[in-house]
Amino acid sequence: MGGMEFNKILGAVLLAGLVAMLAGFTAGKIMTPEPLTENVYKVEGVVTASTGAAPAAAVLEPISALLASADLAKGEAGAKACAACHSFDKGGANKVGPNLWNVVGGKHAHIEGFTYSAAMKALSDKDWDYESLNAFLAKPSAAIKGTKMAFAGIKNAQDRANLIAWLRTKADSPVALP
Ligand code: HEC
Repeated sequence: MGGMEFNKILGAVLLAGLVAMLAGFTAGKIMTPEPLTENVYKVEGVVTASTGAAPAAAVLEPISALLASADLAKGEAGAKACAACHSFDKGGANKVGPNLWNVVGGKHAHIEGFTYSAAMKALSDKDWDYESLNAFLAKPSAAIKGTKMAFAGIKNAQDRANLIAWLRTKADSPVALP
């Protein structure tokens, strides 16, 4: 092949590489959930069938819309999955996990005196808003790397919305719905 042709081919290969890089970069941007802390809440990875957690890699569907139609009774029923480790009532005891009164709208690591993981403590200036709870409950280990909450996650977005809507009521003055 002539030199010109070779250069064209080389050029095409380089261009393809550049396009691929840009696409990867853009995809990375899109997949970073907003407005969550960029390097902490990452929805990623491949989930094995046994965990039952939210499917990975995909952008997590925001639950704002689902909260509006949330079913509190179903949310309360769903909270049975948490009760082994959490109490929900005001002043309730910490168990394996902290008491969850006032957690929606509260800060990460909101219970003074509970021994949180370093990963959770590092976020203690951040509010638990609806989408950060959504990401955490979909797959705790992916949302907060290093969390010690040993819970696979809740796969179904409406189930998460029901539970978060119910959890919201467990507060002195529940924060507004989105
Ligand atoms: C096996 C025990 C276990 C189960 C089951 C569990 N959690 Fe947890 N949870 C923990 C632990 C331990 C922590 C503290 C995590 C850390 O420090 O990284 C925690 C932390 C949390 C936090 C953050 C609390 C704070 O003060 O910032 C929330 C919110 C939470 N859990 C909600 C839930 C919900 C809702 C469920 C049920 C769907 C659930 N957890 C199930 C053990 C559990």
